[in-house]
Amino acid sequence: MPILVRFEVNGRQVAVDVEPRLTLADCLRHSLRLTGTHVGCEHGVCGACTVLVDGDAVRACLMLAVQAEGAKVVTIEGLSHDDHLTPLQAAFRKHHALQCGFCTPGMITTAHALLSDEPNCDAARVREVLSGNLCRCTGYIPIIEAVLDARAAYQKKDERDA
Ligand code: FES
Ligand code: FES
Repeated sequence: MPILVRFEVNGRQVAVDVEPRLTLADCLRHSLRLTGTHVGCEHGVCGACTVLVDGDAVRACLMLAVQAEGAKVVTIEGLSHDDHLTPLQAAFRKHHALQCGFCTPGMITTAHALLSDEPNCDAARVREVLSGNLCRCTGYIPIIEAVLDARAAYQKKDERDA
């Protein structure tokens, strides 16, 4: 029997009737048409489905939609608030950190959570955190370089918030 779940997605309040077994990933993609969240392995291994839930990087294939009740969810579509790329997205373009783009939403949401918490992280830390996100075609070196390059924008934000 469907259950009504209410949460915030990309700054917008939503109310969706979902089956209790529906994952957050499928809810975002099929009920809310936010298809930027990709689904690869569906069992928590590839990281393609990563979204932000209350600021933390979360695998949307491992979370039920009903568990999102009252949460603030941000998907790849919600990271930019205007027509411009975010500094992290721009760094991915600059460093050619994507080819097919399948893994990219998960890479960017994961890296965004890392840089928001640790804007001074080093290459080893970036590698450690992104080791849970699989990319089958680009190679990890440009991805790591892009994330390291984007640190400056997050460090500036930290200074502004201080
Ligand atoms: S689809 Fe969620 S981790 Fe692979
Ligand atoms: S860009 Fe193709 S899987 Fe990563």
